[in-house]
Amino acid sequence: MTVLSSDRAVSAARSIRGSVQVPGDKSISHRAALFNALAEGHASISNFSPGADCASTLSCLRDLGIEVARTGARVEVAGGRLREPADVLDCGNSGTTMRLLSGVLAGGGVYAVLSGDGSLRRRPMGRVVEPLRSAGARINGRDGGRLAPLTIMPAQLHGTQHRLTVASAQVKSALLLAGLFADGETTVVEPATTRDHTERMLAAMGAHITTEGRRATVRPSELRRVNVEVPGDFSSAAFWLVLGVLHANAEVRVTNVGLNPTRTGLLTILRRMGANVDVQNQREVAGEPVADVVVSSSRLQATTVAGDLVPLAIDEISLVALLGLFAEGETVVRDAGELRTKESDRLAVVAEGLAALGGNIEATEDGWRIRPSRLRGARVDAHDDHRMAMLFALAGALGEGVEIAGADSVAISYPSFWADLDRLTHA
Ligand code: S3P
Repeated sequence: MTVLSSDRAVSAARSIRGSVQVPGDKSISHRAALFNALAEGHASISNFSPGADCASTLSCLRDLGIEVARTGARVEVAGGRLREPADVLDCGNSGTTMRLLSGVLAGGGVYAVLSGDGSLRRRPMGRVVEPLRSAGARINGRDGGRLAPLTIMPAQLHGTQHRLTVASAQVKSALLLAGLFADGETTVVEPATTRDHTERMLAAMGAHITTEGRRATVRPSELRRVNVEVPGDFSSAAFWLVLGVLHANAEVRVTNVGLNPTRTGLLTILRRMGANVDVQNQREVAGEPVADVVVSSSRLQATTVAGDLVPLAIDEISLVALLGLFAEGETVVRDAGELRTKESDRLAVVAEGLAALGGNIEATEDGWRIRPSRLRGARVDAHDDHRMAMLFALAGALGEGVEIAGADSVAISYPSFWADLDRLTHA
């Protein structure tokens, strides 16, 4: 068989042991750079995500005339006025870059075109374009504004109340950011709670923002620069938590993990299934809860994941499919249709990949039904989706190995994933 450079083989692991520190949180890194670009003065960000997605945000900011210096995990941003970019802004694979920048640029007074890779150009943008237009934005895109490239022209925005139909932190954030430039008050009401890093960071930067339940209101504000120490990414830690719980001979400690309650739905799910999970050294860093999480081999019961829990675990739901293969009973995931709009159609890609590896899994319209299974080795396709590549790597380590096509995609959020897997795995 030809092994391509983007392929990766993972063998069965005899044990999983050790301590790991995951890279800085992707969501918080994007926001720390973008929001400080809008504030006067120099801000310093430490433990900035090494992933390609956050590099896309930095390169768009440079193209918008913002001075950005990067040394390893430290990023210095000199904020100020945005300048009209000389070319199309390339958001790469990053939905957060495109959607949050759309909000900023809608009221930011420059003409800009936003594009990205093939995956990003297939993802739904109408969810930001339509509400931004209703606030007065002049924004266009392919297919009537539903797809990138997006073109944004200077406009005066007005205060609006948005009632979102999709639970999306990216959409909420885009509208709140646009609200900083509006001539009145902007309110966003979300259908379910989603990650609130935007609200926390804007408040820390002195923005006039108030939140009450699923409603956030922002008034036009000048932002104050803020230094940010980015916590470890819970969505990256999640892979080790699941591997440590599922492997029969495992104990893993993940240190310095961000445990913002709008991100930790997977901890709720793991505990519900009976996993051994221990949270230690709880502390607060830059307005976000942080701790070390220790897991060990566990016997799991099946569960149903649905409703408001889904957005709290949106990037970890695929891991529930893997958990279900090892749990006693039938595990059901519902209300997760949003997974079809991620870097790949994750409902389809997970079902196809895990089934090829011997998993008893059936995709439904908005989730999966999963039964206990015995995994075998196979070759699977991650469809260039970082979280799919990491999920299949776990399935290989837990079963009888795997060969993954599209494995290089881990660089989107976790470039050192393979090195960390090697370190934790004892063959
Ligand atoms: C993100 C929000 C989520 C998540 C993505 C990052 C963010 O997307 O899946 O990985 O940083 O706001 P949606 O808001 O589209 O659900």
